Amino acid sequence: MSKVVVIGTGYLGATHAACMAEIGHDVLGVDVDPSKLAKLEAGEVPFWEPGLEEVLQRNIAAGRLRFTASYADAAAFGDIFFLAVGTPQKKGEYAADVTYVNSVVENLAPLITGPAVLFGKSTVPVGTAERLGTMAHTLSPAGEDLEVAWNPEFLREGHAVEDTLHPDRLVLGVDRNRPRRAEEVAREVYAPLLAEGIPFIVTDLATAELVKTSANAFLATKISFINAISEVCDAAGADITVLADAIGHDDRIGRKFLNAGIGFGGGCLPKDIRAFMARAGELGADQALTFLREVDNINMRRRTGMVDVVRDTVGTLLGVQVAVLGAAFKPDSDDVRDSPALNVAGQLQLQGAGVTVYDPKANNNSRALFPTLGYASSALEACAKADVVLVLTEWREFRELVPADLEGVVRERRIIDGRNCLDVNVWRSAGWHYRGLGRP
Ligand code: UDX
Repeated sequence: MSKVVVIGTGYLGATHAACMAEIGHDVLGVDVDPSKLAKLEAGEVPFWEPGLEEVLQRNIAAGRLRFTASYADAAAFGDIFFLAVGTPQKKGEYAADVTYVNSVVENLAPLITGPAVLFGKSTVPVGTAERLGTMAHTLSPAGEDLEVAWNPEFLREGHAVEDTLHPDRLVLGVDRNRPRRAEEVAREVYAPLLAEGIPFIVTDLATAELVKTSANAFLATKISFINAISEVCDAAGADITVLADAIGHDDRIGRKFLNAGIGFGGGCLPKDIRAFMARAGELGADQALTFLREVDNINMRRRTGMVDVVRDTVGTLLGVQVAVLGAAFKPDSDDVRDSPALNVAGQLQLQGAGVTVYDPKANNNSRALFPTLGYASSALEACAKADVVLVLTEWREFRELVPADLEGVVRERRIIDGRNCLDVNVWRSAGWHYRGLGRP
């Protein structure tokens, strides 16, 4: 088994570190944030991710997983490094901010004296890996023996452990001009996964970076496609959920990612399509990706569209009491980054509505971002005296709500399903005004 260092302990890094230990490696997690490290060391995951805490605790107890803030410790620990720091959207522009990935190489490379491999996992603009490779060779006493390879991560929040231990595929980009040990090392590290027959695609650095970016762009496009058709369904009185099932039976299309609703959010899809457009522009290929601007526009229009639906349903927003069920950008996550649900809640409040939010896991994160919204500790509490109830994140507990749960709690029996996750007939036959998106 190998000694593996994982730099960055956010969603991606913490999951990767815990899962590398789970498959038997000796793992050191590195982060600059002491409060995050203190929690992880105590076996506590600083965010909500089903199943991760168990994996973390089990491997800490087995002595296979430790954490540090010191790059010197990291360099002394082993010769296999995974880079898993964030690449957020830059303030006020589309491009990705690569400050954190740069800083990892600047800090680590000077401390590496012998052969080592740094595997990048973060989503980066194409060309970053090659640039980091040159930087590493220049800054490290090991020179070209410090290799940079790219091993993009495809995990979904809410399924992070499962996606890391049983990915659809492993992708590795290596420096074709200086082929050294990266592929062999990756095969060793991922041996337990490869033994299960998981496809392993080895390519050049640029292709590996683009595999990740284009996968996310495709997923975003699929969602905006179905949302655009949902707008047409609304205009024509057709049903998007039946339509999605019907086209999804064609396995060239596939049913997954055809759920129309208030659109995509989170720390990946929105910023990744923007960074992709920005990078294509730098490369002189901006024409190729103009369709992604429309994908983004359709997505943002879903949020304002939802506010319009609420206004149409109630007649006005001024002084109206709105219950918002769901704040996370998707279920089984407490992540509220670029959350469509919170964006809608915020717009409603700005336009004069009283808004009370309830999310099973994301209330605290939401409060930090939108402190002026009201928060409740249960769906029932959020719905008290509501003129209209909105389901904006399809948590299981909301999908399982039945009209009887809310009778006598709300002021008016109106429910708007921003994720098309409720049974229309159940609500309508109980006398509720039900409205979905793209459903008659
Ligand atoms: C995404 C990619 O799926 C993952 O492979 C990549 O590594 C990181 O980005 P994630 O951001 O965790 O993962 O969430 P995902 O499950 O892809 O959902 C993204 C958003 O799309 C959510 O807001 C979700 O509600 C929305 N969505 C998804 C839809 O609106 N409709 C769908 O049919 C599917």
